Amino acid sequence: MKMNIALLRGDGIGPEIVDSAVEVLKKVADKFGHEMNFTPYLIGGAAIDATGKPLPEETVEGCLASDSVLLGAVGGPKWDTLPGDQRPEKALLGIRAAMELYTNLRPARLYPALKDDCPLKAEIAEKGFDLLIVRELTGGIYFGDRGYREGKYGTEAYDTECYSRVEIERIARAAFEAAMVRNKNVISIDKANVLETSRLWRKTVHEIAAEYPEVTCTDMLVDNAAMQLVKNPSQFDVVVTSNMFGDILSDEASQITGSIGMLASASLGKTKRGLYEPIHGSAPDIAGKDIANPIATILSGAMMLRYAFGLEEEALCIEKAVDDVLDAGIRTADISHGEGAIGCKAMTEEILKRI
Ligand code: IPM
Ligand code: MG
Repeated sequence: MKMNIALLRGDGIGPEIVDSAVEVLKKVADKFGHEMNFTPYLIGGAAIDATGKPLPEETVEGCLASDSVLLGAVGGPKWDTLPGDQRPEKALLGIRAAMELYTNLRPARLYPALKDDCPLKAEIAEKGFDLLIVRELTGGIYFGDRGYREGKYGTEAYDTECYSRVEIERIARAAFEAAMVRNKNVISIDKANVLETSRLWRKTVHEIAAEYPEVTCTDMLVDNAAMQLVKNPSQFDVVVTSNMFGDILSDEASQITGSIGMLASASLGKTKRGLYEPIHGSAPDIAGKDIANPIATILSGAMMLRYAFGLEEEALCIEKAVDDVLDAGIRTADISHGEGAIGCKAMTEEILKRI
């Protein structure tokens, strides 16, 4: 198979971790006889510095013309004082919207080898967990009407949460489809006791649930969900939720896996192309020091092979190499308890050796 992949390295640790994932993808391509071409494009702070814009037109066009997109992370203190619509993060929302990537899959599982890194009580960690957060990615408060206006106490800022039935239907379908090939259990998370958008969310999810009689579907309020995630994470299989709730709960889910440096994600739309990125940020404090954990990005590469190209065996080959490295006790700083950590490049080498 021939694959043209757009690379959005971004800022902070973005370039290091994307380069690691590219090496791993190249090795897999060689092993299985595929041809992979990589084309880099600017995004985020790097794009602001070079062109004045966080998301240059050329980047959007390049991504839309590619077969798939691999992204590192964007943002950093250098660009933190820019107005909201010129910040690096705006590029991330922009590319998600331009590629119509409304489904964000964020799997979180506790690797048996990382049980001691799980901050939960031993008896909870012992049970393990393997869940998939299906986060709506192109709607809700991230994309609603916003601005400043005069209010009761003078000038005020506002953001609005808005969801249409169509947006909820399609993300609900994505969740039920995912559940069909997992443990057939969907928990839909909302704040229906307060928010109108959540009430439409709940009603619509129930309608879609009727199309999937084999899948159990329950509702959970987001505050309770945040609590249940640390109390009993093994109760979750597929979680479906809005853009902002999904952002928050996926960080919480990642922390209980031991490190946010382990979590990959796939952002999908109507086409197979998708955009693949670690769920963590650009970690400017450790950028350029060769200490970042590249695993989340490497696993995002595996998700790309699976979802964009249907290459299940190749995806499993990467996932198995990561399992083996962890089983061998090889650790980057974030999962090392301060002992014997290796760097980003050395971790990449260890994974390459096992492919
Ligand atoms: C994420 C990030 C982004 C988000 C930020 C950087 C805009 O936190 O992908 O989870 O909130 O979606
Ligand atoms: Mg986030």
